[in-house]
Amino acid sequence: MEQEMGEWKRLMLIHKFALDEVNTKLNILNEEFQHIHQYNPIEHIKSRLKNQHGIIQKLNRKGYALTTENARRHVHDIAGIRITCSFASDIYHVLQMLNQQRDIQLAHVKDYIKHPKPNGYQSLYAIIEIPVFMAASTEKTMVEVQIRTAAMDFWAGLEHKLFYKFDGVIPPRLQRELKSAADTMTALDQKMEAIKQEMDFVKNGGTFI
Ligand code: GTP
Ligand code: MG
Repeated sequence: MEQEMGEWKRLMLIHKFALDEVNTKLNILNEEFQHIHQYNPIEHIKSRLKNQHGIIQKLNRKGYALTTENARRHVHDIAGIRITCSFASDIYHVLQMLNQQRDIQLAHVKDYIKHPKPNGYQSLYAIIEIPVFMAASTEKTMVEVQIRTAAMDFWAGLEHKLFYKFDGVIPPRLQRELKSAADTMTALDQKMEAIKQEMDFVKNGGTFI
């Protein structure tokens, strides 16, 4: 029993260290980008560890025995990071910068921006693997990374609240409203991107006629 407790504690620690590692990398990349391009691609980073209760629920739902081994292998979002970018193009930039880190491997990517969910949800979702260097071992650890614009984050936050408020069954009228808000969100992101491109054009010495 005590040994089992120790194993779960170690599992949580390893994922906390993985979050620390990725957070440090993101901060360095953001500052370097600021130095080169005079703006930050990352507006905001939020990270969270899934608690043991959440991990057990997920293992149960997926039909796996409650072992730390199964948690490591089948629960990919024990360590989660959400990155908010100003512009949609920054999202792919940030993913590319992460992927270029020698010790990071992209295990899985789902692009809900190019392929939004039917409800209107948009976000770039990636599972990355990063080594965590412990005293006696190196632990390859998965981290779930969600990269979004501020507009996508605003939308997803509201949809998430409604989803829980209505126990997973959002009334059809509100679903339609949400879908319409998602279209507005896409239009806003496209407009902001276009304005940024004009700004870059001027910054690079271009002039308007
Ligand atoms: P599991 O989390 O193991 O069930 O993975 P999955 O295959 O269901 O992944 P999925 O791509 O559906 O979701 C990954 C994460 O993206 C979720 O944990 C949410 O944080 C977020 N997400 C996905 N779909 C939605 C959505 O429709 N609305 C909101 N608000 N968030 C979503
Ligand atoms: Mg899910």
